[in-house]
Amino acid sequence: MKVVVVLAVATILAASQCHGSEYDRFPLEMVSDGYHPGYPPEVWCPSWRVAVEAHNYINWKTVPSECANYVASYIEGDQYDSDSKLVNQQAYFYAKSLKRTMNDVWIFNIDGTALSNVPYYAKHGYGVKPYNATAYDAWVRKGDAPALRQTLKNYHNLLGLDFKIVFLTGRTIDKKAVTEANLKEAGFHTWEKLILKDPVVYNGQSSVAYKTAERKKLEKEGYRIVGNIGDQWSDITGKFPGFRTFKLPNPMYFIA
Ligand SMILES: *[C@@H]1O[C@H](CO)[C@@H](O)[C@H](O)[C@H]1NC(C)=O
Repeated sequence: MKVVVVLAVATILAASQCHGSEYDRFPLEMVSDGYHPGYPPEVWCPSWRVAVEAHNYINWKTVPSECANYVASYIEGDQYDSDSKLVNQQAYFYAKSLKRTMNDVWIFNIDGTALSNVPYYAKHGYGVKPYNATAYDAWVRKGDAPALRQTLKNYHNLLGLDFKIVFLTGRTIDKKAVTEANLKEAGFHTWEKLILKDPVVYNGQSSVAYKTAERKKLEKEGYRIVGNIGDQWSDITGKFPGFRTFKLPNPMYFIA
C-alpha cells in the first residue's frame, strides 16, 4: 500500500515538474510584437492561423517568427493538402448542384490557388521574411510552378461539368506568356479567359479593387460568375464575387 502511495506521489510530482519546466521555458519564447496572447507557440500559432483564415486577423506583413516551424510543417505536411481538398470538394459539390447555363464561369486565382508557390516560399522562410518583389518575380518568370493538386483535380471536375474557367490573377500583363505556358505545363490546359493585371490601369489600386473591376467587366460581357476560388480574401471579396466563394488556406502571406 505504502509503495503504491509513494509511486503515485512520485508520478504526480514528476508530472507537475514536467509541466512546470515547459512553462519555465515559456518566457524565453515570448515576443513583444503584439501577436502573443499568452500561450506557447504550439497553442497560439494554430489560433493565429484560424484567425488569419477567418479574416479576423488582416493586414499582417509576415508570419510571426515563433510560428515559422508551425507554418512550415502545416504547409509541407498533410494538413494543407487536406484543407485544400475539403475546400475544393465543397466547391465541386456546389457546382454539381447548379443548373448550368451557357455563360456560367468559375473564377480561379492563380498563385497559391491553381499554381503552388510553396517551392518559392520554402526557400524564403515560409512567409517569415518580408516579401521581396524582385526575388518573387524572378521565380514567377521561371515558369515552373507546380499545380496545387487539389485545385487541379477540381478544375478538371468543373470542366467535366461544362463550366467555363476564368483565371483572374494579380500577375501583371508582361507575364502573360510565361503564365500561359506554366498553367499548361502544370495541367491547366484550357480556359475561357486569362485576365492579368494592367499595372498602368490599376496603378496603386488594391487587389480587391482590381479584381472587382475585372469581374464587373465579365458580368457586362454576359458571363454569370457562379463560383470563385482563391487563397486570399481579396480574391473573393468586393462586388460581383460570384454566387459562392471558396477560400483556400494560405498562412504564408496576406494581400489586401
Ligand atoms: C531581394 O531579392 C533580390 C534578388 O534575389 C536580392 O538581390 C535582394 O538583396 C533582396 N532584397 C532583400 C531586402 O532581401
